[in-house]
Amino acid sequence: MKKSLKWWQTSQVYQIYPKSFLDTTGSGTGDLNGITARLDYLKTLGVGAVWMTPVYPSPMVDNGYDIADYTAIDPSYGTMEDMERLIAEAKKRGIRIVMDLVYNHSSDQHPWFLASKKDRTNPKADWYVWRDAKPDGSAPTNWRSIFGGSAWTWCEERQQYYLHTFAPQQPDLNWANPDVRQALYDAANFWLDKGVGGFRIDAIVYIKKPEFKDGQPDSNDGLVDIHAMEANTTGILDYLHEFKENVFDGHDIFTVGEANGVPAEDLDKWVGDNGVFDMLFEFSHMDVQFLGGAEVWCHAKPWPLTALKKALTASQTATANNGWYPIFFENHDQPRCINHFLPEGADRDLAAKGMATVLMTLRGTPFIYEGQEIGMANVAWGSIECYNDLSSHNQYRRALAEGHTEAAALHSVHRFSRDNARTPMQWTRGTHSGFTTGLPWLPVEHDRTYTVENEAENADSVLSYYRRLAKQRAEIECLTAGDYTELLTADESIYAFRRTLGAEATVTLVNFTAETASYDADLVRGMNRLVDSYPTDAQADEEPGILRPFEAVVYTTVATLAQPFQEQ
Ligand code: GLC
Repeated sequence: MKKSLKWWQTSQVYQIYPKSFLDTTGSGTGDLNGITARLDYLKTLGVGAVWMTPVYPSPMVDNGYDIADYTAIDPSYGTMEDMERLIAEAKKRGIRIVMDLVYNHSSDQHPWFLASKKDRTNPKADWYVWRDAKPDGSAPTNWRSIFGGSAWTWCEERQQYYLHTFAPQQPDLNWANPDVRQALYDAANFWLDKGVGGFRIDAIVYIKKPEFKDGQPDSNDGLVDIHAMEANTTGILDYLHEFKENVFDGHDIFTVGEANGVPAEDLDKWVGDNGVFDMLFEFSHMDVQFLGGAEVWCHAKPWPLTALKKALTASQTATANNGWYPIFFENHDQPRCINHFLPEGADRDLAAKGMATVLMTLRGTPFIYEGQEIGMANVAWGSIECYNDLSSHNQYRRALAEGHTEAAALHSVHRFSRDNARTPMQWTRGTHSGFTTGLPWLPVEHDRTYTVENEAENADSVLSYYRRLAKQRAEIECLTAGDYTELLTADESIYAFRRTLGAEATVTLVNFTAETASYDADLVRGMNRLVDSYPTDAQADEEPGILRPFEAVVYTTVATLAQPFQEQ
């Protein structure tokens, strides 16, 4: 017997980067009222939850992932009343607001850290991870932080080092201290009392600290990647079970942990009946360019489509009978998926629709990142100075230190910068694409064709295609509840899979290349074509067994759905 699915399994989650979504004040940065103003738009994509990246008070060294108060709203985003109104207006439309919990670290401006750093005996002395210097005065270990340089920073006042897995302005909280854990649970419960619909839990794999010892240096800076030393340390699940019992249990919410590097064989300890979260973001399919190595941008390698298929099939299989999978090809830390997964020069509409087809027909909850639904693309600015993201600067420096030219270092920033996904959302054909009446904090990507205004008027646009897929995912049960099987095609440039639920089935076929590709027409014999990514006037030419360049099609056994698309 199939278990019936929950609301967050049958709808889409839409991720918003609030700073870049919609500015209602002319300040140049987006705000909460901007999100409230677009809830009706989100409804047309079948969205059941909006995950917002952090909107708490923050010095914004890492755009809000450095939090200075866990239970307030940063004034640049609005007020607590705006937040309450957003939650209420969303609820009226059947949308829940999901908060980002950044609990591995706080800002160095959080009152907890300001107190902790004063001396070794204050009441918050043990709230962060402090250690003495080595006898020679150097850092306690040779770990490299994720944003570059040592993971330890010396504090003059306290005469000790503190640990930061990310930037020095993001000191790690000491989860070994029960008072810290309780304070974090209280903050999450504060938001549950406000009526939020769930949590995305940031960088959670780092909260349990291992023994502090040096690792084998992995590069000529003498340091070792902290991820190799600190992630998924034994005992982490004890903390997470306690977290679940104190916060998540008994609420009709969902939780999704950002858990880079949890191996597939451990997944059932993290999600599903005995797990701690409902879903887990793991990045094996996003990191195909790094082929299992550390994510150093200038080390990106060409990758075969088989690597992507293998990673997706592995996660689909790992959650087939237990747990649930969040499907995503973009977020605020990743390049735009059409640039990430399709070859240079690919037709932009077809590329975006191909990725949409996979996203919306795999088994799991599709996470649509703002702008993905209109086919937004990467930017390529002329100099590193144009970039805001601190990790882009770090990766650029790293490439230069490894002997790459400035042009090559900039090229890897163009490919992977987190700013690619952070340029303002493109609403209209007007100035700054209708994002702001002021000066946008980050330039708007230049192609004005890809705006909500343009695409809403065009039945063949990327946006219309997403809306159509959303409607079908709501109507064809097999697309949500059905099992997944990868279909092997002779032509490896096609990604093909079947979903089945009893007698109902769908088959998805996507050609990732600029060449015509063929597959066995028997795979879809007797089925109806549900969608085709080619423009309407070219669809009659589609024939089973052949995919045109970058073409995506979905076939189904369900008869009723081959209806023309209606604008909602
Ligand atoms: C996560 C976030 C990223 C942030 C980091 C530190 O990976 O997604 O944006 O910089 O954690 O909080």
